[in-house]
Amino acid sequence: MKDNIYKKKQKTIKAFAFNEKIATVFSDMLNRSIPGYKTFNDLLANFNIFIQHNTNIYDLGCSLGASIFSITRNNNKKIKKIIAVDNSQEMLQKMKNNAQAKKLNIKYCHADIKDIKINNASIVMLNFVLQFIKTTDKNKILKNIYQGLKKDGVLIIAEKINYKNKMQQELLCKLHYEFKKNHGHYSATEIQQKEIALQQILYAETQKKLKKRLKKAGFKTSTTWFQGLNFIAIVAFG
Ligand SMILES: C[S@@+](CC[C@H](N)C(=O)[O-])C[C@H]1O[C@@H](n2cnc3c(N)ncnc32)[C@H](O)[C@@H]1O
Repeated sequence: MKDNIYKKKQKTIKAFAFNEKIATVFSDMLNRSIPGYKTFNDLLANFNIFIQHNTNIYDLGCSLGASIFSITRNNNKKIKKIIAVDNSQEMLQKMKNNAQAKKLNIKYCHADIKDIKINNASIVMLNFVLQFIKTTDKNKILKNIYQGLKKDGVLIIAEKINYKNKMQQELLCKLHYEFKKNHGHYSATEIQQKEIALQQILYAETQKKLKKRLKKAGFKTSTTWFQGLNFIAIVAFG
């Protein structure tokens, strides 16, 4: 369904929330707002090489399940369980509907990713989610993921990033704006109103800071494998 949520001028703009209204249009919203979102998911499918026989895969902040559907696209190994976590019941319900025909062994967890115990995991995915987590909770979440990974397990993490340098930050923001206008066909009002809503719940950081956090959590190395403007994807090795 087409995203028209911020089309009409609103008197006051409330903080962005992953509710029923957003969940209904979320697929369209992501494709029109995140540069390279489709390509990111196509490339993510290749990470099935990290699936280990009889282990778990976690998708933290799964929304409609795009990451799970990608990572299992070409897989022929036995997955013990796929754990799909989101604190939005509306997102989880829509994901369940999307997954019905796919015959995947998915456990749905309506929970905060802060409270999830990770175990026997060969892959954990945290795509476009850590950016919504308060700065004070980010390290704890990454450490918890690291501790639940099996030997040779990986964390795949995608994030909106900021730049410390003012010129770079302004350039990337401008290019992202143009992307939403030209590729997403959003109006200036839609872009501005959504930005105000999102800014109230976003805690984006620099790439350097994110990699520092990964190191602190215990990850041996981390490699950036995709970037679309100010959105990056990293794989971190446990
Ligand atoms: C931008 S969406 C993620 C998109 C999805 N991973 C993908 O790649 O298509 C962010 C999701 O994270 C969920 N979320 C945000 N904070 C969360 C938290 N603390 N615990 C669990 N889920 C959370 C939201 O409900 C939302 O569905």
